Amino acid sequence: MTSAVPLLEARLVDRLRTVFALDEATIAKTLHPDFNRYFRGLLGNPAGVNGYLDEVRYLCSAGRLGGHVLDLASGFGVAAICLRALGVEKITGVDLVETKVVTARKLADHVQVNGCNFLLGNAAALPLADASVDGVLIKDAASHFRYPKRVYAEVSRVLKPGGRMVLSDDRNALNEPVRSATERLWEVSETGSPAELAKLGLSVCYTQMRRDYIAQRFPSLDERQADWIAQRTRGYTYVMLDMAVPRLLEDQGMALTPAASCINPANEIVQERLLDPIELCRELSRHGLDASVLPTSVWDVGTAKRRGSRWLGLWRRRLAQMLWSTGIARTRLIKRTADFLIAARK
Ligand SMILES: C[S@@+](CC[C@H](N)C(=O)[O-])C[C@H]1O[C@@H](n2cnc3c(N)ncnc32)[C@H](O)[C@@H]1O
Repeated sequence: MTSAVPLLEARLVDRLRTVFALDEATIAKTLHPDFNRYFRGLLGNPAGVNGYLDEVRYLCSAGRLGGHVLDLASGFGVAAICLRALGVEKITGVDLVETKVVTARKLADHVQVNGCNFLLGNAAALPLADASVDGVLIKDAASHFRYPKRVYAEVSRVLKPGGRMVLSDDRNALNEPVRSATERLWEVSETGSPAELAKLGLSVCYTQMRRDYIAQRFPSLDERQADWIAQRTRGYTYVMLDMAVPRLLEDQGMALTPAASCINPANEIVQERLLDPIELCRELSRHGLDASVLPTSVWDVGTAKRRGSRWLGLWRRRLAQMLWSTGIARTRLIKRTADFLIAARK
């Protein structure tokens, strides 16, 4: 597959590049301090910005996105602005976190983009009418959804008949290194040191968040009891603790059921769910979306050329593409990469 989507708004991309060339203090003041952490690989790195644009171009091309596109869980809005630069007519970004939406709006103002609108909202209950969008992009967000089935039902509801969805994520459950890295991430989120947590944009680990919440909501418990419950309630949100702790106090024998993965107890965002791309396609088909796994941009010869990869790399990619297109070893190829890409049509 080649990335055939042309760049329509070169000046917009230039303005976006100037943002990534700003110093961290200016970005923190103009946009948000967390923008620096999230995009640390792109700051002061024009090649990185080009790579990001290539990635969005590839997704746009693979998903055949156009018309009115919903960027679901749009974060700081960079992908949405890139889509606009690639000529997509209208983008609506939706995100659950207010600081992300506010920052995306600031960024949109800063780069003077039109046709990009950012809304605060939950992907599991979208603030959009039925059959109102031509395409949906879900980039690096599927692994954070608390209620994925509801999200895909919503995607199906807001897509017009024949509309397209493209989803990419780097939490490929079929890839062994991703599995162990994700388990390590969960451990750090639950009990990490301040330095480890800072790298994730967290100041307090989830166990401590639960402990503090329990102590504040249930003052009759002593520190040791609050600690005991906090350590056994991995995956519980504050709302779940509100229900579980009184029941536990009534019935000391009640079993708590900690989750394997973890979740931010305050904002209820999942800290990286592992996703099996093949199973995810089946889930999407249950919501009326005809979905298949496509090669990621890693296998894209066009992207590789732009990134100046060596000829050997290019030929390996060509071979991989051939094997992919004939279905031979497709599952083995999916397992080889951390990232995966799913394209679907309603
Ligand atoms: C890793 S970021 C990716 C952001 C953006 N798509 C990108 O590629 O830069 C994941 C985003 O998902 C958002 N999110 C998580 N659960 C959500 C939900 N239920 N509804 C809307 N946004 C959600 C988070 O707030 C966060 O901005």
